[in-house]
Amino acid sequence: MDFKQKYSEFFENLDPKYFNEERFVPAVGPEDAKFVLIGEAPGANEVEEGEPFVGRAGNRMDEILHKIGVDRDELYITNLVKIRPPDNRDPKKDEIKAWAPLLEKELENIEPEAIVTLGNFASREMLDTSKGISKIHGRTFRKNGWKIMPVYHPAATLYDRSKGPELEKDLRKAFGKRDAGQQSLKDL
Ligand code: URA
Repeated sequence: MDFKQKYSEFFENLDPKYFNEERFVPAVGPEDAKFVLIGEAPGANEVEEGEPFVGRAGNRMDEILHKIGVDRDELYITNLVKIRPPDNRDPKKDEIKAWAPLLEKELENIEPEAIVTLGNFASREMLDTSKGISKIHGRTFRKNGWKIMPVYHPAATLYDRSKGPELEKDLRKAFGKRDAGQQSLKDL
């Protein structure tokens, strides 16, 4: 069953102004994934390949996942909004709201052990906060029964290289992949 069939009730009720077949990108990953990653919205590469996080930001994320020993195929990767916004703009509030019931259904279906929100948009939405990502990244929150860790969006690390090590550190923590090099002296 494909994604749209699986969540047909949502798609039948979605206001058509929020849907566009040519810009639609479904989530990817196993239904029994332990972790769910949530981004903002797909970009051009994602639309071309029909999968989230396969462009520059996705490659950056994959590099880090590989480095810390996490298999991307074991993760469920989704976005707040499943339609690519025009001109690569940020998703708007009403778009996020229109697509939110689907994300809720996906989470109920996957029942992950933990959720990693990538960047400001997903983190603010899932944590219902106005705090910026630089203040909250790498911390674990409990919200609506979910364990959630906000991290920097991988795209942000492309523009500000100093955020790369922070993202790596947070993802290690989220996935329980400690770096031997980061062990404290008392553990040696
Ligand atoms: N950025 C996102 O937030 N989501 C994607 O799928 C790709 C880039």
